[in-house]
Amino acid sequence: MKRGSIATILCAGMCTFGILQAQEAKATQKKATLDMQEFYMAHACHSCHGLYGEGIGNSPRLAGKKESYLYTRLKELQAGKTRTSYGGVMVSFAKSMDQNQTKAMAHWLSQLKKEEPTEEYDDGEFDVTS
Ligand code: HEC
Repeated sequence: MKRGSIATILCAGMCTFGILQAQEAKATQKKATLDMQEFYMAHACHSCHGLYGEGIGNSPRLAGKKESYLYTRLKELQAGKTRTSYGGVMVSFAKSMDQNQTKAMAHWLSQLKKEEPTEEYDDGEFDVTS
């Protein structure tokens, strides 16, 4: 009986610890996500790649691409290696991210949905006559 209750207390303690740790990890991940969203907007990434990372013209889509691919591409760009003749514009933007930010950015972009929510681009009913 005594043994059992000690085990219960021990287990309860460890489980709580586990839950707390998990919650902390979740919170950290959430913060990293927010940070990358802020970074993306603050560093004008959206002006070329679109608000949702959907890509515009020569600037490729980023949303939903594989994290490992995005990471490799960012490292290549940081080293000045571009894939296209107009890729040079991207080099300084890639260099604006440190190692941790590069990792977090590749992760964040990979989690974005491939399709932009079309309703955001909906002009809606705009009656010019009234
Ligand atoms: C002036 C326009 C411009 C801005 C601003 C810009 N990019 Fe780019 N980006 C490009 C172009 C062009 C390429 C294609 C590069 C190449 O040819 O290799 C590219 C490529 C990329 C790639 C590789 C995608 C792939 O499929 O190969 C990633 C990831 C990326 N950009 C992320 C970012 C992030 C993050 C920011 C903001 C810090 C940013 N870009 C800002 C133009 C831009």
